[in-house]
Order: sequence, then structure tokens, then C-alpha cells
Amino acid sequence: MKILVTGNMGYIGPSVINQLRTSYPGSTLIGFDIGYFGNCITSTEMLPECRVDFQYFADIRQFPIDLLSGVDAIVHLAGISNDPIGNKFEEVTLDINYRASIELAKKAKEAGVTSFTYASSCSMYGFADDSPRTETSSLNPLTAYAKSKAFTERDLEPLASDQFKITCLRFSTACGWSERLRLDLVLNDFVAGAVTSKRITILSDGTPWRPLINVKDMARAIDWAISREAGNGGKFLAVNVGSDGWNCQVRDLAEGVAKVIPNVGISINQNAPPDKRSYRVNFDLFRKLAPGHQPKFDLITSIRELKEGLEAMEFKDEDFRNSKYIRLNTLTQLQNKGLLNQNLEWVYKK
Ligand SMILES: NC(=O)c1ccc[n+]([C@@H]2O[C@H](COP(=O)([O-])OP(=O)(O)OC[C@H]3O[C@@H](n4cnc5c(N)ncnc54)[C@H](O)[C@@H]3O)[C@@H](O)[C@H]2O)c1
Repeated sequence: MKILVTGNMGYIGPSVINQLRTSYPGSTLIGFDIGYFGNCITSTEMLPECRVDFQYFADIRQFPIDLLSGVDAIVHLAGISNDPIGNKFEEVTLDINYRASIELAKKAKEAGVTSFTYASSCSMYGFADDSPRTETSSLNPLTAYAKSKAFTERDLEPLASDQFKITCLRFSTACGWSERLRLDLVLNDFVAGAVTSKRITILSDGTPWRPLINVKDMARAIDWAISREAGNGGKFLAVNVGSDGWNCQVRDLAEGVAKVIPNVGISINQNAPPDKRSYRVNFDLFRKLAPGHQPKFDLITSIRELKEGLEAMEFKDEDFRNSKYIRLNTLTQLQNKGLLNQNLEWVYKK
């Protein structure tokens, strides 16, 4: 197997590479990333990217088709990966997440790649205060980020064929420890607050529903998607990935953290405007199709591993919401330093 993983230098990437190394021993793993967050690592021993056979630093918007020679499978993670960045860089988000993804899939099909796994998102359900969303529920993408995911799925579908299987994994919100940690994710933010200042500050009124999944369970779902037979789900499949037990309200997550880390205070913003993003998700289809790859990590284990990881790196930054572990901060700083232009391209290459 020759597997190309785009965006492998992101939060999820290291877990995906570890999983693929275990599941496909002897395979050739190729990483492809623009390197926006290259210095955001938690491991002091080894760059996580040393685990791939080849690492390319390049922009997915100018993807060279030559790299696809002999590639069997693509795991496409590269992208602008949250609402705050998407809101600030709307058109760039559509360029990278949507247009470049469709171009990549077209090139992959042309080059004879047989499996294309796309990191989609449940955020395309937007706001839904009634029953849990299934894959056939109507989409309600409210932000540039969510729209980019919905448009990509829509335009990927007609590209699927018997020789080119496409799987869109609609992931729940990620959480958990990673060698490329991010703290702009709800659970990670709460644990960082609890560890550094014994305080969790919920920016909303705590009521929004948000399904979660540990990054290592995301990697296991990707592993499943790569090797699933087209008979199991079809040549094009969009599936919700997560578990019923993790359909939580934001305040439940905070209370979970306070159970694991003693003497932590929780503040809720009672005056917050209603969160536009709130939904519960139905995971029946994923349970049916991938019984051997169901999420294993629960909330408490994920909180513990985050706590232990932050303590091991002696993380004490109470002001972490302004740190490099918040992706928008990193991109903004790179721009302020003149290293990225307004299209989020490296300046030195132009
Ligand atoms: N983290 C989540 O909660 C979550 C949930 C659902 C889906 N996803 C999706 O999973 C994927 C990976 O998420 P993540 O949390 O690891 O994100 P991340 O932001 O940590 O990593 C994304 C990676 O993509 C790279 N990248 C961005 N633009 C690029 C470009 N133009 N060319 C090449 N590389 C580029 C970045 O350098 C980064 O290393 C994303 O597509 C994201 O939308 C994430």
C-alpha cells in the first residue's frame, strides 16, 4: 500500500500516521502539508513527521499530480479546520477546503488512486434542536467552514466510481491528546483551563449540544474507511463518526473535567447570545457499517490523558487562549510577521 496523508502535520495527523503504521505494516506513507503549525508540537523527542517515509511541504491549492504515482489511497485532512479561521478567511477557506479538495480528488481518480477518505464534519448540521441528525437529515451549514465541507461532499459524490471509492467521515468535534496539540477545541480548552488556573470559563450558556470524539478514534475510523469494501456502504459514502455516549451538552463536558481535576470552578456566561452551533448526531449507520472500529475512548479517559500530557510538558500558560495552540492566533501572527499573505500563502515562495 502507498498512502498519501494530506494535512498530516495537523492535530489529527500524528494519530492517523501511528494508526496506519500499525494497520498497514510495510506500507509507504507520504505526508503533504503546508506547515502552518509546524512549531506547535508537544513532543520534545521526535518530530511526529519522522514516522512517514516522505514528507512534502507544499500547498494543496497547487498539488502536483506527479506525487500520485503509484498511490493507492488518499486520506485528505489538509484544510482550514475551524469556524474562527473560516470566518476571518472566508474565500481562502472555500479555496483550500472546497475547490482544492475537488481538484485533488479529480487528479487522484485520473492517477488511478482507488480510495479517497475525506475528513468531513458534523458541523454541517449547524443548529438542530430536535432529534439527532442522521446522514439523510437536511444540512444547515452556517459558517464558511461548514459550507466548505458541505460543498465538498456534494461535488465529491459524482466523482465516485467502482474504481474510485470515496468516504466522507462526518467527524464529531475532536478532543484528546496529540503530539500536535490544539487548545481551540472545547474539551481541550476546558482541561487547559482546569490545569493552568483551576478555572473553566464556558463562553456560552453551556446548553449547546456537541458530539465529541477522541483523535485516536478518528484515526481508527480513517483506517476503516481506507479498507472498507464498496459493498459496505457504497462507492460514495458520507457517514457520521462518533458515538451516542458522547452526544454531550457543553456544561456536561465542563462538569466531567471538574470531576477528574479537583477544586476547579466553572463559570458560565448566562448572557451569551445563543450558540448558533448545537446539534445531536445519530451514529447508527457508522455502528452498522464499522462494528470493529467503534470509538473506544470515553470522556473521562480523554480528560485524564489531556491532563497528564499538559502536566508532563509543564504547561502553565493561563493565557493559553492567546497562545500558539489556538490556530487562528498562529495564522494571524504569521501574517503580522509578513510570512503569510492574505491568501495564506507563504510569502517567501512568491
Ligand atoms: N478537529 C476537529 O474537531 C475536526 C472535526 C471534524 C473534521 N475535522 C477535519 O479534519 C481535518 C484535520 O483537522 P485537524 O484538527 O488536524 O486540523 P489542523 O488545523 O490541526 O491541521 C490541518 C493541517 O492542514 C494543513 N493545511 C492547511 N491548509 C493547507 C494547504 N493549503 N495546503 C496544505 N496543507 C494545508 C495545515 O498546515 C495543518 O497542518 C480538517 O480537514 C478538519 O476540517 C476536524
